[in-house]
Amino acid sequence: MKILITGCAGFIGFHLSKFLSKKYTVLGIDNINNYYSTSLKYSRINFLKKISPKNFIFYKIDISNFSKLEKVFKSHKVDIVVNLAAQAGVRYSLIHPDKYVKSNLNGFFNILEISRKNNVKHFLYASTSSVYGKRKINDKLSENDRVDFPIQFYAATKKSNELIAHSYSSLFKIPTTGLRFFTVYGPWGRPDMSLFKFTKNILENKKIDIFNRGNHVRDFTYIDDVIKMVSKLIFKKPKIHKKITTKKSDAPFRVINIGNDKPVGLLKFIQILENTLGKKAKKNFLSLQKGDVIKTQCDTTELKKLIKIKPTSLEKGTENFVKWYKDYYKI
Ligand SMILES: NC(=O)c1ccc[n+]([C@@H]2O[C@H](COP(=O)([O-])OP(=O)(O)OC[C@H]3O[C@@H](n4cnc5c(N)ncnc54)[C@H](O)[C@@H]3O)[C@@H](O)[C@H]2O)c1
Repeated sequence: MKILITGCAGFIGFHLSKFLSKKYTVLGIDNINNYYSTSLKYSRINFLKKISPKNFIFYKIDISNFSKLEKVFKSHKVDIVVNLAAQAGVRYSLIHPDKYVKSNLNGFFNILEISRKNNVKHFLYASTSSVYGKRKINDKLSENDRVDFPIQFYAATKKSNELIAHSYSSLFKIPTTGLRFFTVYGPWGRPDMSLFKFTKNILENKKIDIFNRGNHVRDFTYIDDVIKMVSKLIFKKPKIHKKITTKKSDAPFRVINIGNDKPVGLLKFIQILENTLGKKAKKNFLSLQKGDVIKTQCDTTELKKLIKIKPTSLEKGTENFVKWYKDYYKI
């Protein structure tokens, strides 16, 4: 079994490659861009090469380069593709929309088209909870909801991925699964995300920026839980449906929430981090940032129909992150 994972030097791609390369051949692709520390990305790649010298094969390739990608598929019979390579981040999309076009639209098309040509058995890709946009504060976010109103460009590119994937599933019967991740956190996490930034600043006695005066609510999902979910979904290909209904098409297509229905307020989240670090944060309260979603709460009904989920507590997950952070940065 050969599984091709793009974005393998990234946070989620690294963990997925680590887990799957215990059992399968993982072909990892990443362009190691400098959106955040390339040293952290290379550390992840070196770690993977060390623990799985035979099963992990790395290619430094940009997915917007069609011919280089095609060469990898010519050298290996790829069974499954998990496309995690993308320009991530909501706030960055306000200033660099071009990067999202290159990776999330051109790159996405390339990997999907090459997967189709090579008869890949299941094509999975990262979407995001950001596709849900502005919603009533008590709404749980369900895959059955309409998501036609993205409030920033990042979400618009991810929603486009879902539409493009559907057209391929419908036309070519390639099974596709879109993974709508809800705020993933944990060891080896992303330096642009709140847990990482807050931990760094608190430890360095610097102020932390708290947008929307702390009134954000997020459904945090621990990385190990995400990997368990994704690695099970890999083997649950969506099937061709017999009937078309108002909610479902007949194509072998699925989008699924990856979260755990345990929303936490930003201030509570900071308190958990302060308790873990044994240190108070210096808080800089700011107004709502353009493009930010105020609340995410994952409806897990559809996910639970496919797999069992057992969420890690935010306290335990935060403790694991802080332990990794202190260890990695030798604090
Ligand atoms: N982490 C989260 O909470 C979260 C939430 C929602 C959605 N997502 C999505 O999940 C996926 C993985 O997220 P992550 O947190 O691991 O992000 P990440 O930035 O850590 O990983 C993405 C990786 O893709 C690589 N990459 C970017 N553009 C590329 C290109 N054109 N060619 C090759 N490689 C490229 C980057 O170098 C990086 O290593 C992304 O698609 C992201 O949009 C993540």
